[in-house]
Amino acid sequence: MTQRTLVLLKPDAVRRGLTGEIISRIERKAGWRITALELRTLDTETLEQHYSEHKGKPFYEPLVEFMSSGPVVAMIVEGERVIEGVRTLAGPTDPIAAPPGSIRGDYGVIVRENLIHASDSEESAEREIKIFFPDRG
Ligand code: CMP
Repeated sequence: MTQRTLVLLKPDAVRRGLTGEIISRIERKAGWRITALELRTLDTETLEQHYSEHKGKPFYEPLVEFMSSGPVVAMIVEGERVIEGVRTLAGPTDPIAAPPGSIRGDYGVIVRENLIHASDSEESAEREIKIFFPDRG
């Protein structure tokens, strides 16, 4: 089943120089392709749309602040079962609970600064792609 997903390499990944490493892991998966890629500093409005489901949660305000603290790499990745697949590469939200070998398990410590976002369903992927790449929606 060919799918597409929205991936963000968060400001901590860019600041730490880990974007190449993370992109390599994605590119190594057979048949997966990056079909859009942009380095961009996100504004509050974009983040409010992207994280609308988290509005009101205790971690929401610091999350928006962190996500606008420096550039992110926004990508569309296409390929076989790529939605579940990138989330498996990323590992669970909490990097300390994430297994070694996953991106968060190998490089993360802090829940908020967990290096990567990947859409969690086909509906989320389509919604998020429209936010970040409106001409690809
Ligand atoms: P992600 O799953 O990509 O999208 C929601 C983000 O909110 C999550 O990554 C973390 O960056 C952040 N987040 C989720 N839960 C917490 C939490 N309990 N404390 C701080 N940040 C969180």
